Amino acid sequence: MFSVKKEFDFSAEQECLIVGVFDKPARFEGVLSRADDQFDGQLTELVKSGDISAKKKAIAKIHTFGKIGAKRLITVGLGKEKEFSFEGLREALGRAFKEVKSSKLQNAGVYLDTFIGGNVDALDAAHAASEAFALSTYKFEDYKQKSNEPEKDIESIAVYCEAAEEEEVKASLTVGYAHGKGTNSARTLVNLPGNMLTATDLANYSSELAWRYGFEVEILEKEDMLKLGMGALLAVNQGSAEPPKMIVIKYQGKEEWKDVIGLVGKGITFDTGGYSIKPKDGIVGMKTDMGGAAAVLGAMEVIGELKPEQNVVAVIPSTDNMVSGTAFKPDDVITSMSGKTIEVLNTDAEGRLVLADAVTYAKHHGADYLVDVATLTGGVIVALGEETTGALTNNEEWFEQVLEASYEAGEPIWRLPLFEKDKERIRSSKVADLNNSPGRAGHAIMGGGFVGEFAENTPWVHLDIAGTATTAKSHDLGPDGATGVMVRTLALLVERFEAK
Ligand code: BES
Ligand code: ZN
Ligand code: ZN
Repeated sequence: MFSVKKEFDFSAEQECLIVGVFDKPARFEGVLSRADDQFDGQLTELVKSGDISAKKKAIAKIHTFGKIGAKRLITVGLGKEKEFSFEGLREALGRAFKEVKSSKLQNAGVYLDTFIGGNVDALDAAHAASEAFALSTYKFEDYKQKSNEPEKDIESIAVYCEAAEEEEVKASLTVGYAHGKGTNSARTLVNLPGNMLTATDLANYSSELAWRYGFEVEILEKEDMLKLGMGALLAVNQGSAEPPKMIVIKYQGKEEWKDVIGLVGKGITFDTGGYSIKPKDGIVGMKTDMGGAAAVLGAMEVIGELKPEQNVVAVIPSTDNMVSGTAFKPDDVITSMSGKTIEVLNTDAEGRLVLADAVTYAKHHGADYLVDVATLTGGVIVALGEETTGALTNNEEWFEQVLEASYEAGEPIWRLPLFEKDKERIRSSKVADLNNSPGRAGHAIMGGGFVGEFAENTPWVHLDIAGTATTAKSHDLGPDGATGVMVRTLALLVERFEAK
């Protein structure tokens, strides 16, 4: 897909050449001035006339009429160099690649040196370019009976970079591309409807992924769960015609199985709410209730591509949450794998139940550090909106590592409190150790806090992606629908992890 060249060649034949333009007055500077020379200074004139804009993410498409080998120049505005950031770069490049795709061009050159500035160096630019390319050109294949001929994809991208060595640029392109592709895989899983992605399908997908990368995989069936006493996952599955699956994938990048990171993802393939049934407007879209599982699987794909020297166990509890004569009910008391008993007050608070057994099982497999990712509560959307993932933790240092990774990934998270008084509400039940729905106040804290009861003393971070897993609007780095949020955060967390 990508080829790297250190020497820039104006005569190279291409459908288009992408260059970044910083907000500097009048004449181009540095590498861009050389391009301008090829156009006898006419690019400068186009800047003056406003046809080329340096405003953030402004695109101009200019036909070159043989002045250079590329048929078109696509310029993208980068704003003020002082304010330039990795995030701004990724979005600008996303915008540029969307332009290439919508213009139906099949190859492109990227003049990487024109994107270096502010805090962004050549290798950041390479990482951003391949990641933005993968993310911004993603499309979910829908089920419409197509009348048009198939779309032509971009086939090759030549990257020119004089500021770094070819091998280094290639390595950064590989990392960025893996992050982008892993995110896209998660998007596809989330976009698939509940009838096309059951727990069995998710388990099959996981087995294939494991096979592709040489991971160890274990799929627990209902009988295994009964033996292990996974009463919480089994309760949620009780009303379903589809068998439940507990999916475990192990990646060992160190000689010994120690300092193990446990990634746990909620895999509810459709959430009706069960007997605490959702209203008709709230039920639409609940195919996305396996967004946490998708994030974990996307991250495992990145890990498989990049093979960091880390140990990871991924655990995904999967079922749908249905109503039927056999379904679990409010007032039921269930026993989780940990032995803790739970009074079910609301069958729609099912995510925390399946995660309870998954967190216990991740510890059983040696997880020393835990992150759970889940579309857990509508409450997190009320608290933080749809741009920010909610977090809870029981360990400051572990949370710092997750926060760093999320910052680098451009996937903002914000921590909510979890005090003893909050835990008291989760632990208050006349008949059981815990209850799964302590009332309206602080939904996001109650949901995540419940999962924390099963992490116990293991360092744990909870990420509630109910607001961020999907978006209603298309954006620079992808279409509307699933975002694949937290794939990159989890992947970076694993890549950068340092045991304390
Ligand atoms: N899957 C939902 C949470 C959700 C809501 C995800 C909106 C995506 C968008 C979850 O299982 C749920 O129903 N949570 C309840 C919990 C309540 C019953 C304690 C909620 O948030 O209302
Ligand atoms: Zn629910
Ligand atoms: Zn749910």
